[in-house]
Amino acid sequence: MPVGYRRQGVIAVAFAMLSLVACAPPPPSEQVPLLAEFADAYPAESRAPDATRVFDLVAAPATLTLLDGRPLQVWAYNGQVPGPTFRVRVGERVRVTLSNRLPVETTVHWHGVRVPNPMDGAAGVTQQPVPPGGQFVYEFVPKDAGTFWFHPHIRSSEEVERGLFGVLVVEDRAPPPYTRDVVWVVDDWRLGPDGEIDPNFNTPHDLAHDGRWGNVVTVNGRTAEELVVRPGERLRLRLVNTANGRVFRLDWAGLDARIIAVDGMYARAPVDPTGFELSPGNRLDLDVRIPAAGPGRWVVTDHFTRNAFSVATIRAAGEPLASPEFPSPAAARVPAWREAAAIAPAKEYALDARRGGPFGIEWMLGDDGPHAHHADTLLPRGRFTKLRFTNRTYRLHPMHVHGMFFKVLARNGAPVDEPFWRDTALVHAQETMDVGMVPLDVGRWMLHCHVLEHQEAGMMTTVEVR
Ligand code: C2O
Ligand code: CU
Repeated sequence: MPVGYRRQGVIAVAFAMLSLVACAPPPPSEQVPLLAEFADAYPAESRAPDATRVFDLVAAPATLTLLDGRPLQVWAYNGQVPGPTFRVRVGERVRVTLSNRLPVETTVHWHGVRVPNPMDGAAGVTQQPVPPGGQFVYEFVPKDAGTFWFHPHIRSSEEVERGLFGVLVVEDRAPPPYTRDVVWVVDDWRLGPDGEIDPNFNTPHDLAHDGRWGNVVTVNGRTAEELVVRPGERLRLRLVNTANGRVFRLDWAGLDARIIAVDGMYARAPVDPTGFELSPGNRLDLDVRIPAAGPGRWVVTDHFTRNAFSVATIRAAGEPLASPEFPSPAAARVPAWREAAAIAPAKEYALDARRGGPFGIEWMLGDDGPHAHHADTLLPRGRFTKLRFTNRTYRLHPMHVHGMFFKVLARNGAPVDEPFWRDTALVHAQETMDVGMVPLDVGRWMLHCHVLEHQEAGMMTTVEVR
């Protein structure tokens, strides 16, 4: 190649780079400390995949022995409820072929996973719904290790309640040496007088309150789940709330349990789980140390409502094990973002309801009515954005955003520094919640209430990261 030609090429590349830089102006000065704190919090890109893990996911009606041991008609992934737990290692490519054998359209959304936008499973936004008899191949490389889950993102209030949900565990490159790694899918069901799933979905009562709360609570599909361990074990317990509307606030009966991760992501430091509100969509990873001395039994109870009830039991029996000693994996870089208080919200979403629409009540996110009428809120990629949610109602709204993690910055104007990220956070009655995020993944992402009846009745919009 002649020298002159090569030089021209170099100059052209230099100009191209200059214009790229020119397209990305430096961040406004008030953002500089926030972005500095955010640097290295979580990666922009995935690792180069070193393996591909291939899974089949068949959604179909099934009759299963669940709950108290009687047969129950459900919709199931791979013939089981909860659906399968897919375990992969961070950096592996995941390929899941969904086959829809349901009588209705469906999709699979990978809740909390930062997937490429077309793989997000949001019907009508990132893909067409998969018709009965149809297939869809989901493929992505998880960027973050942690506990995630998946569920349909169309008619969710019915499809999730009928049993369509599963867990995606993304392991660390070098998982901490827990003696055991256990998933607890926490859920509730509303059964009718015939003992089957009550087929009345989106009832006026549920729509006007906190969604469909069931009359049976299960862990991993059983009403009396008992986890039997050996004294001295140190286990990783991964909790997922797949209920349509129910919030759990669990008491650990004096067990030595520490939160190490919330919504998949490791915390800055271990956190006492007392009082944590596990709302629909949330995950919690606990580091549980079973005492080495003798047998024991701990009944985990829920205290979110006035009537406490037992959720599951942990029982220690048999010969003690030597407890593994290793530092808590909860040592992530999570910004405090104190300077964020001075930054104005880019958008305020009013959470409110009004009469009208196909259900007789419309749940609103923003001031301009339900999702059909919404324009995207633009979130600049790589920039700090603050969003404000103002709950004008007395109902619960666990707000969830796809494609990114956020931090709760303030509640009712008082600064909050939770030492962890979230993808879902509960907004209480009449409360205002500020959240901050630095979105890294481009695309149109759903933002909605994870009370599935509220979502169904309009409490859903999109943000666009560009
Ligand atoms: Cu788990 Cu958009 O949802
Ligand atoms: Cu809601």
